[in-house]
Amino acid sequence: MYSEKVMDHFQNPRNVGEIDGASGVGTVGNAKCGDIMRMYLDIDENHIIRDVKFKTFGCGAAVATSSMATELVKGKTIEEALKVTNKAVMEALDGLPPVKVHCSLLAEEAIHAALWDYAEKNDIKIEGLEKPKSDIHEDEEEEEETY
Ligand code: FES
Repeated sequence: MYSEKVMDHFQNPRNVGEIDGASGVGTVGNAKCGDIMRMYLDIDENHIIRDVKFKTFGCGAAVATSSMATELVKGKTIEEALKVTNKAVMEALDGLPPVKVHCSLLAEEAIHAALWDYAEKNDIKIEGLEKPKSDIHEDEEEEEETY
């Protein structure tokens, strides 16, 4: 059911942890399953992502996609990191079962949320970056409304 790459990144996730004093931190929740992910970015003055770490309270596919996503954005510019979509991450992992596609969104959204946080802290605008919609607080509110 899972590719070897997915299993590898699930069993040996890269870049797990936190970054003290990170340039940007993003926390997102998956509305479908309630899983949570936090992404930390360390960005230098040339807008290059020097380091990236993540923590997740989520399923195996979320762990594997976040791990791969961190590998894909590390050393990249902000603009390049923005192009790392969940589709790109899934391709790099040789695919995910259809029921697990929503899990890969968590990584993409967490990166965007962390970039948004970085932009806000530095009072800059990142071209093409939209305010993260799956901010964790918004999800909680949505759930309250549904029940
Ligand atoms: Fe929740 Fe995969 S089932 S992120």
